[in-house]
Amino acid sequence: MKTLITLSSYAAVAMSCLAAGPTFTVQAGHPAGKASPMLYGLMTEEINHSYDGGLYAELIQNRAFLDSATTPVHWSVVNDNDSAATIALDATNSFNDQLATSLRLTVTQAVKDHPAGVANSGYWGIPVQPDTRYRAVILARATADFSGLVTVSIVSEDGETVYATEQFSGLKADWKKFELTLKTGKVAPTAAARLVITLDQPGTVWFGLVSLFPPTWSDQPNGFRKDLMQMLVDLNPKFLRFPGGNYVEGDTIESRFDWKKTIGPIEERHGHPCPWGYRSTDGLGLLEFLEWCEDMKAEPVLAVYAGYSLKGVHVNPGTDLEPFVQDALEEIEYVTGDVNTKWGAQRAKDGHPAPFKLAYVEVGNEDWFDKSKSYDARFAQFYDAIKAKYPQLKLIATIGNDQPEELRVHSRKADVTDEHYYLSTDEFTLKSPGYAQNYDRSGPDIFVGEWAAHEDAAIKPWEAGARKQPPTPTMKAAIGDGVFMAAMERNADVIKMQCYAPLLVNVNPGARQWRPDLIGYDALSCYGSPSYYALQMFSRNIGDEILSVGTSQTAVQGCATRDSHSGEIILKLVNPQPIAESLNVEINGATALDSKASVITLAGSPEDTNSINRPRNVVPVTSTLEGIKPQFAYTLPPNSIVVLKLNARP
Ligand code: AHR
Repeated sequence: MKTLITLSSYAAVAMSCLAAGPTFTVQAGHPAGKASPMLYGLMTEEINHSYDGGLYAELIQNRAFLDSATTPVHWSVVNDNDSAATIALDATNSFNDQLATSLRLTVTQAVKDHPAGVANSGYWGIPVQPDTRYRAVILARATADFSGLVTVSIVSEDGETVYATEQFSGLKADWKKFELTLKTGKVAPTAAARLVITLDQPGTVWFGLVSLFPPTWSDQPNGFRKDLMQMLVDLNPKFLRFPGGNYVEGDTIESRFDWKKTIGPIEERHGHPCPWGYRSTDGLGLLEFLEWCEDMKAEPVLAVYAGYSLKGVHVNPGTDLEPFVQDALEEIEYVTGDVNTKWGAQRAKDGHPAPFKLAYVEVGNEDWFDKSKSYDARFAQFYDAIKAKYPQLKLIATIGNDQPEELRVHSRKADVTDEHYYLSTDEFTLKSPGYAQNYDRSGPDIFVGEWAAHEDAAIKPWEAGARKQPPTPTMKAAIGDGVFMAAMERNADVIKMQCYAPLLVNVNPGARQWRPDLIGYDALSCYGSPSYYALQMFSRNIGDEILSVGTSQTAVQGCATRDSHSGEIILKLVNPQPIAESLNVEINGATALDSKASVITLAGSPEDTNSINRPRNVVPVTSTLEGIKPQFAYTLPPNSIVVLKLNARP
């Protein structure tokens, strides 16, 4: 007997059925529920150089000289034979209070054709592309007697090739802003390059900020890397959860994501230490997050700082917490207020008069780490204040069903709770059949705000061992992702949103803190992991109605949805076995199934993966399948994720 399993009985039935042969059954007669239209989104924070040295297109590392208080890290002296120069930080000469130091360049001898100056090696290289315009912005001053020329060039690491160059003069004793365009010609792409700034005569010049941008997504100033944005847009995300993760909390209260310090001109952004061991420029600040959402046609899921920081400090609920609650209210006003509000007017001044749509606000992040158990009271204080002013907003509590009862929020009913899962493929394969089946359908809704599969249960993503592995996961991990995404989709009536984390990794060994990560890149190029393609297959192919599915005599896990407008039935099947699985697929209750279906397959050996050098080693393949009937045979390749798109009448 084959047994149909409903949303709430997947695990039990999968184990108890007695069908003849591996079978996957879809109950297409009556939808089992409505699938959340917001199910697939993205999560982001500053980790692994996701922004600085990643999506944020700035090419100069330590552009404002604030990364170290003692040395101008990432900057080096350029002096050639007879020319001589020195560099040093100079905190007594700063452009303003935010950029509280400067780089002093002193050229004592400048010989024609022998450059003397300073160079920056970028974020593991400056990417040079052919026929490309780079926009440089330089804040500088000089001693009153300096009347020389400043040359700004993109030069090969060995100094032999100048890819683009431009000059300016007119330095004064007062600070001035200089803007230049550097244009490359017909060069071969390379990241083995530096930005070099030289003087043509002896003198002393101070730099407050040196910025260099390539062309950005939609040509937005202070914008995003084009190739990475394209990869994100291709995932069809419905929301973006930001700015964390740990990044919203900071190690300490002072180093939290303090949104007011991340807006306005870049020369007014001091930056701050990020909890992942390096300094953030805050170049990608609150407005840029919102514009990023807009560019992807995705909604913001805004996490506000809720009075807990990672080193175990919390703000006492009550009077002490009040300023932070007020800050969150003002942040929401910055996002949603019209130009007649104080913070809406500030947003307009910053360049975006139109308010952004906002439906979800998350109060904190992973507050189960707060062992003082203050979260219930802190959440309540935020809840009451935000609901009083913005009753339409849905508030997300950060302690979900898997955390100890005594840590969860009891004094208010959160609209949504956030659950995080970093598990191995084997753990996900075990957990997924029963996942969410006992969740209370009367709420709170569930947001799986961070999750990812890794290959080896013994190597946790945050441990040193993980950093010794390649930054992005293999096909084995994608299988774990697949079974868990199928589980979430079966339960997409209560799992309203989910997002893989972390999203981005700069693959240079010194740049990363966590693995696995979805998308890898260096200065010049990027690639998607097998997990990226698994997510893309899921997120781009989903209907609005959940169909019950059942399995018997198979380790295959899957899910099904239907598009109520077109009638299309979308099956997702994951074969975690090292052997092919010949499956009987039964579609019960569908009207007029077309005999042709389209198929998207991601398959490979468990260890197969993608990388900078082999970016498309494992990618989905699209094909057509003939002979579709209410019962048909389909053979899943070993270690595979398959999307079957069946045409039926609505
Ligand atoms: O995704 C990496 C980290 O994992 C997040 O910053 C944090 O929320 C979680 O512990």
